[in-house]
Amino acid sequence: MSVRIQLDKQHTTYTNLDYISGTVFLNINSPETISAITVKLEGESRSRLAGQPRRDGAFNPRGIYYDPYEKDQTQLEVHKLLYKLATVFPTQEILRISGNGGSYTLPPGQHTYKFQFKLPFNNDCSNNNSLLTNLNALRLEMARNTDRHVRKTLPPTLTGLPGEAEIRYFVKVTVQRPAFYKENFRSLAPFTFLPIEPPRPAANKREYYARRNHQFSPSIDVPGKPALFRKSSVSADPVSSKVLPPSITIDGRLPDPPIVTCNEALPLRVLITKKNDSPAKIYLQLLNISLIAHTVIRAHDLRRQEVSSWTILSIANMNTPLNETVGGDGQKVLEIDSKLWKQRPLPNTICPSFETCNIMRKYELEVKVGLQWGSPNINPELSVQPLRLPVQVYSGIAPPQALLDQMSNRPAAVPTYIASNLHPAGSTNGPPLQPPRPPIQTGPSDHIEPSPGDIPAEAPPSYEDAMADDLGPIDGPRRDYHQQPSQTPIGDVKGSGNDSPISTPKLATSAFSTSAKAMAQEYKIKGLSSLDLKSGEKREVEIEGIENGKVLLAKVGDKTHAVSANCTHYGAPLKLGVLTPDGRLTCAWHGTCFNVASGDVEDAPALDPIAKFEVMEKSGGVYIKGEESVIKANRRQSNTKCSTQGPEKVVVVGGGSGAMGAVQALREQGFKGSVTIISTEPNLPIDRTKLSKALIADKSKIELRPQDWYKISSIETVSDEVSSINFQSKIVYSVSGSSYSYTKLILATGGTPKALPLPGFKELSNIFLLRTIPDVQAILNAVGEQKGKKIVVVGSSFIGMEVGNALAANNDVSIIGMESAPLERVMGAEVGKIFQDLISKNGVKFHMSASVDSAAPSSSDKKAVGSVKLKDGTSLPADLVILGIGVAPATKFLKDNPAVKLQDDGSLQTDESFAVKGFSDVYAIGDIATYPYHGPGGSGALTRIEHWNVAQNAGRSVARSIVSPSAKPKPFIPVFWSALGSQLRYCGNTPNGWDDLVLQGEPKEGKFAAFYGKGDTVVAVASMQMDPVMSQSAELMRRGKMPGMGELRKGVDVRDIGVPGEVKM
Ligand SMILES: Cc1cc2nc3c(=O)[nH]c(=O)nc-3n(C[C@H](O)[C@H](O)[C@H](O)COP(=O)(O)OP(=O)(O)OC[C@H]3O[C@@H](n4cnc5c(N)ncnc54)[C@H](O)[C@@H]3O)c2cc1C
Ligand code: FES
Repeated sequence: MSVRIQLDKQHTTYTNLDYISGTVFLNINSPETISAITVKLEGESRSRLAGQPRRDGAFNPRGIYYDPYEKDQTQLEVHKLLYKLATVFPTQEILRISGNGGSYTLPPGQHTYKFQFKLPFNNDCSNNNSLLTNLNALRLEMARNTDRHVRKTLPPTLTGLPGEAEIRYFVKVTVQRPAFYKENFRSLAPFTFLPIEPPRPAANKREYYARRNHQFSPSIDVPGKPALFRKSSVSADPVSSKVLPPSITIDGRLPDPPIVTCNEALPLRVLITKKNDSPAKIYLQLLNISLIAHTVIRAHDLRRQEVSSWTILSIANMNTPLNETVGGDGQKVLEIDSKLWKQRPLPNTICPSFETCNIMRKYELEVKVGLQWGSPNINPELSVQPLRLPVQVYSGIAPPQALLDQMSNRPAAVPTYIASNLHPAGSTNGPPLQPPRPPIQTGPSDHIEPSPGDIPAEAPPSYEDAMADDLGPIDGPRRDYHQQPSQTPIGDVKGSGNDSPISTPKLATSAFSTSAKAMAQEYKIKGLSSLDLKSGEKREVEIEGIENGKVLLAKVGDKTHAVSANCTHYGAPLKLGVLTPDGRLTCAWHGTCFNVASGDVEDAPALDPIAKFEVMEKSGGVYIKGEESVIKANRRQSNTKCSTQGPEKVVVVGGGSGAMGAVQALREQGFKGSVTIISTEPNLPIDRTKLSKALIADKSKIELRPQDWYKISSIETVSDEVSSINFQSKIVYSVSGSSYSYTKLILATGGTPKALPLPGFKELSNIFLLRTIPDVQAILNAVGEQKGKKIVVVGSSFIGMEVGNALAANNDVSIIGMESAPLERVMGAEVGKIFQDLISKNGVKFHMSASVDSAAPSSSDKKAVGSVKLKDGTSLPADLVILGIGVAPATKFLKDNPAVKLQDDGSLQTDESFAVKGFSDVYAIGDIATYPYHGPGGSGALTRIEHWNVAQNAGRSVARSIVSPSAKPKPFIPVFWSALGSQLRYCGNTPNGWDDLVLQGEPKEGKFAAFYGKGDTVVAVASMQMDPVMSQSAELMRRGKMPGMGELRKGVDVRDIGVPGEVKM
């Protein structure tokens, strides 16, 4: 049986009053007894914080209510914002005929059921409607109930703070089966929600402002002294040192109440008023406008404030003289031309202000104005005045007139705003016209202190009445709303050491957002008076004036580079990595290699480059030049934007790791032809490695790139299955009947998990494989919300061990392996035993040196598995079985092709450039490619390596060959990782086997380095909790400098060995 939901896609973003409708598809193979099919419309606000509550309840200077490094308390708070239920089967008609309740037997085939819901206005968060839990990596957490509920307009979807704060909306179907032993089937369809904005007050002339006073210093007329922003084109101002320096006020003004709107330009005015009679000109040198978001997250007694920002405009070195006009009150006013920001709408990644019971988002608009007076040649003083205005962000979806009419007939609540300094337009000194509110501005303060009661505008109470069904959906403009897909943390893996992915802020000015292109500014590095690094040294440093702003300084030869401080893959601190004399910076966790001179990715698995900043020493300090948002984001977007042209057509069959590496590198390297990915998966390319470690079935959490990225990069994605290829006429055919011609073909179809050809395994249900999101969904459905299942995992290799470990927290898991210890063939029994001990501690039972005989049906359901029998007669009870017994290359579509000679294992043989032997213009990469291996001990032996990095690096290499056909292949050392109770890292390969093992560290504690040797040559290295042994070894192997097994046995620590510059692969 399988069930899925297809939404009728009326909108990409839903809003209040919309109807959301769709169809449930239920496919059954044999007659099934069910009692009901229910569809639920749900929304939830979920927060999860770890730490110690501060006893004084106060913020620390970083705006955190608790010490995040004290990880001994984790709190989960979940609120159901929206919960509507519809029973689509049995229908009223069936009930009428059959009488009430009971069960129904459906015949085999596809059954479809339509549903429709109306989205309400306000949340309905007073009851907990389901078991609220969180599967966080390997632990299942229960959310405690809370009686604190806020009833307001439904909040927008929020995905940017993965693991900590999320607001999700979805439609969920449950197929209820009456027999108590039968699992209910479920499926889920997420959607994006953006609320209708509150009604706007009638237009008025009042303005809301933030103000600063400034008195310029007298000029220091020092001829010949270089001015900070001097430009030869600026003519000398006829002002001498005797001229009176201006005294000014600077205002940032917004119409009152201060509202800014998604996708629209800021209604901002920036005015400078001269307060004395100085005749000197004032020059605008710098203008920086940012929207700063404060997300207050609460999980029971833990609270945290996350600050993020979007740069709307950032321009330096402007040298623009400001023209004076005389206002009605005789004051000289200089207004900055608003054309500068009128072309820059607020990015559509910004969510409107909102409040839920546990998450609140509010905003400030920050305007930094840099001014000089007189000639820049004479007055080097640059005065930068920051102004902050608390603002509300509105969605831009106007309430329908019918609603406004309903509201006007009721005593409407006056929206309350956070703060206001209110003056009639034109007046600069008048008293506030509104009741007193907390002051902003004029002081030097630019920090917003959230207090529990300090909330954005409430939904007017009459909105609840608007939930009446007679109000139709809005017909006015709808706004785009692109929340970044959230990265799901795999964090808190028990004993995992340090590589839980951290929440990395995304670039506000990304290639696929509409935000402004910002300009770089200079920032001072904290506590550094000179660049005194030694060659080869790395140092993480903090940036003054940027909250949590850090960069890494890395000296290569005599040049010091400043780059992002964290890896763009899962956020590892790059200070832990390995820096080589030829400028490669290799991440300690999973081996991404960045070029420090450019920030570019040289080796997988990271996709985004790190940012690179200009670094300079001056006036006794060290400065970097960069954009605040880029420094905070710890990454930059590579340029993949493209409008296709020319006859070249690359078709990539498969949408996995190899495909991603290839298509991104093609665009990065300037390929302009068309690029098409054809994949059988119902999602965009995902981070497959997370499937077995955290069992994530929500594609938005693991898709490597959002749909927009493919659009901007002109990469077509097709969901279809390739059935055959005509290599002569260069055409790919699919099962849907489509055909795709190519000039270059990349085959990247990965692996097909193997099934067990033993009695019972083919016939019985509840036996699962694990390769895709639907596989994970099927496993989660079978485990069910109540958990506590008996799960048998067949296979003690990486996937079996990971999935067993992930499910052990709340189920009874047994792993069956044929070897004496898990992973014995690859890593040896001694090392395999370490993993077995680590995972046993989490409750997994092992049956090693065991062979499976058959699967037997359950006594209560003859079609479902009930136990797994071993050859020694043992019978292991099983509610479900997961097979992790390896994969075969997914090349079925080539099997009968007379032009192709597959290897014995079904793979394709390639050369070092991954070109398929015997073909021109055809490449094979990833799990289906058998290629000559030139790493240590390899000697060109043909090998097939099932690693994420190998597939992606091969894809990058093929892109290089397509763009520059004469380019030489760039060999790489294979890197692999796994979560086996602690993080395992592995580099190298053993195509010719290994015959010696040296173990360093404290293996019993799960802290070790294992060196695998063939003779005296180290051919592979595995490590746990001994970073950066793996990355250092990979670099030493690449350069032929890895110590021999004899030296390692004597205790040589690879981390103490200098990495030479020369590459020897
Ligand atoms: C659960 C799991 C966890 C893993 N964890 C790790 C890890 O931690 N570290 C690590 O290094 N490696 C890990 N791996 C291995 C790694 O994911 C693979 O080696 C890697 O994904 C191979 O990349 P690929 O591009 O060759 O194939 P895949 O990523 O498998 O992609 C193959 C694609 O081809 C598509 N396809 C197949 N046949 C057709 C067809 N006929 N027509 C159209 N499309 C087709 C598939 O649907 C899929 O989209 C893991 C693998 C799995 C399954
Ligand atoms: S975190 Fe750096 S490679 Fe994964």
